[in-house]
Amino acid sequence: MGKVILVSSGKGGTGKTMFSVNLGAILAQQGNRVMLLDMDMGLRNMDIYLGMENKVIYNIMDVISGVCRIKKAMMRVDGFQDLYFMAASPRRDDRDMTPLHMEVLCNKLRKYFDYIIIDCPAGIGDLFDVSMAAADKTVIVTEPEVASLRDADTTERYLREKGMDNMCVVVNKVKVELMQAGLVPGMSEIMNMFKSPVAGLIQYDENIHISTNKGIPIVCKSGTYIERNFLDIANRIVQ
Ligand SMILES: Nc1ncnc2c1ncn2[C@@H]1O[C@H](COP(=O)(O)OP(=O)(O)OP(=O)(O)O)[C@@H](O)[C@H]1O
Ligand SMILES: [Mg+2]
Repeated sequence: MGKVILVSSGKGGTGKTMFSVNLGAILAQQGNRVMLLDMDMGLRNMDIYLGMENKVIYNIMDVISGVCRIKKAMMRVDGFQDLYFMAASPRRDDRDMTPLHMEVLCNKLRKYFDYIIIDCPAGIGDLFDVSMAAADKTVIVTEPEVASLRDADTTERYLREKGMDNMCVVVNKVKVELMQAGLVPGMSEIMNMFKSPVAGLIQYDENIHISTNKGIPIVCKSGTYIERNFLDIANRIVQ
């Protein structure tokens, strides 16, 4: 049975979608069958980061509301044998989807996939509660800056109160020179803030930004330090 991994943050723009697509891509490159679910209803952009924006016909809400069968909404990502993707609705339809819908959807997907990776909306509203309903593990993506860390901490506590006890933190957009100069919170300070372990650190790198705009996951470029870093982080997450 497949595992459901929730990618959350608290604050917006920390890199959840970038992280989700690259985690999915690297796990698929390792021979796993992976489904990426975009739960950012109304503000979807996973399709863009995967270069699939012109190919989306059906989305998760079409499956939930019975407009199409689940397989119709599963799209294989170009260039991958076993990386699939299901788009969010372009409309903010969150009130139509309940935690039970999510559990039923994920239980179906668990039969086909080794990993189901859910890209969450920012914040901790109703749609977040729906997104987390079937999660086995949560990755909290934060930037090393005070506002982002506070929201990540609030998210961690919220999830813990809801019974989630398998979490880890990924620190993204790290500017090493600022950290070394003590101008932004350092790694030991960040590690002390969270009860959950830090699974890894991703540097701020323009190549990552360019890759999301091109619609090609950065880990597709093999032999780079970024690919090796993602592999290490992915191994820590799924171990
Ligand atoms: N490590 C990085 N280095 C450089 N740019 C990055 C990095 N991580 C993410 N970005 C860029 O930051 C922006 C936000 O990333 P992304 O869309 O993944 O964030 P998000 O948390 O999903 O945002 P939202 O809360 O709006 O869903 C994008 O332009 C992306 O290219
Ligand atoms: Mg996003």
